[in-house]
Amino acid sequence: MNAALTDDEIGILLTAAVQAPSIHNTQPWRFEVHGPVVDVLLDEERTLPVEDASGRAAHIGAGAAAFNVQVAAAMLGHESRLAIHPDPARPEVTARIFLAARSTPVPGLSRLYGEVSRRHTYRGPLLEHRIPSQLQRRLSDAARTEGARLRWLDPADRSELGTLLKQTDVLEMHDEDRLHERHSWVGGDRSSDGVPGNALGPSPVRDALVRDLSAGYDSAHRSQAVFETDPTIVVLATPEEDADAWVRAGAALQRVLLTATSYGLVASFLDQLLEHAPARYQVRELIGGEQWPQMVIRIGYPAQSVPHPSRRNWRDSFDQWF
Ligand SMILES: Cc1cc2nc3c(=O)[nH]c(=O)nc-3n(C[C@H](O)[C@H](O)[C@H](O)COP(=O)(O)O)c2cc1C
Repeated sequence: MNAALTDDEIGILLTAAVQAPSIHNTQPWRFEVHGPVVDVLLDEERTLPVEDASGRAAHIGAGAAAFNVQVAAAMLGHESRLAIHPDPARPEVTARIFLAARSTPVPGLSRLYGEVSRRHTYRGPLLEHRIPSQLQRRLSDAARTEGARLRWLDPADRSELGTLLKQTDVLEMHDEDRLHERHSWVGGDRSSDGVPGNALGPSPVRDALVRDLSAGYDSAHRSQAVFETDPTIVVLATPEEDADAWVRAGAALQRVLLTATSYGLVASFLDQLLEHAPARYQVRELIGGEQWPQMVIRIGYPAQSVPHPSRRNWRDSFDQWF
């Protein structure tokens, strides 16, 4: 057994963990530390029973938080190993990170540490520049390292996705339960969780391949902008479809996003396509019918800056330690 983590180390690891993306900034996680082991638990009180009934999105957020723990551990000099759902008696433990004894910063992973606080979801317009193919390959490699795949959509796929997006947006607008749940997390002033109105970005003047989380309830102060005509869209997918695959997808998502951030790229997501089963099956067909789509990512270079949501203090999601 390695030595227990110090208070300072725990603070560094969990400060990084809570910077992870989560649907509507729900931060659906809790953490426990046992000696040199960090557990990431799903916080059922902070999930979305309507919009994320299966828990897929919440598990992805937990997987991303676990990856951030590994990145911060690497910076501190700990090699680490991730185990997904390690304890059948406690299924709420989604991920367990075993830290090896402290030595020198771990090459590769530790370089991503600086990106943890720089990465944010960007819902504003993108520049029309394409992402170089070499960089696309690097991002695909990042996903593969965590057991997922990236499928970069071609123009015909993007056009099909655009049609699907319009259909799901109409469904969303008429789903009272979904809108009710959304408004308890999105819009207005928010200090430590949820997505405040100013992080929604400008509303698109014309149809755009971006998710407008305001769902039509715009504040009077929200600006408008012309968005890019044809953004780069990439689908992150896994070979399996179960809770383990969702956690793995979260780790892969975060490795892709931190790598993208290090090259000046920003991303936002079109999760409505995966929240409605028929649309998700169509996305699955679009990417070849074999893998399970877990995130639809709009990615590129930002044309402006947009404020981003805050987090609860890591201590608010820290249960105990021994
Ligand atoms: C599984 C998952 C699904 C998400 N879906 C969307 C989405 O459909 N649209 C969107 O704009 N943001 C989406 N987000 C991004 C969150 O809203 C964002 O991570 C959260 O508000 C925290 O903000 P930050 O990423 O800027 O730190 C999603 C994030 C996760 C992890």
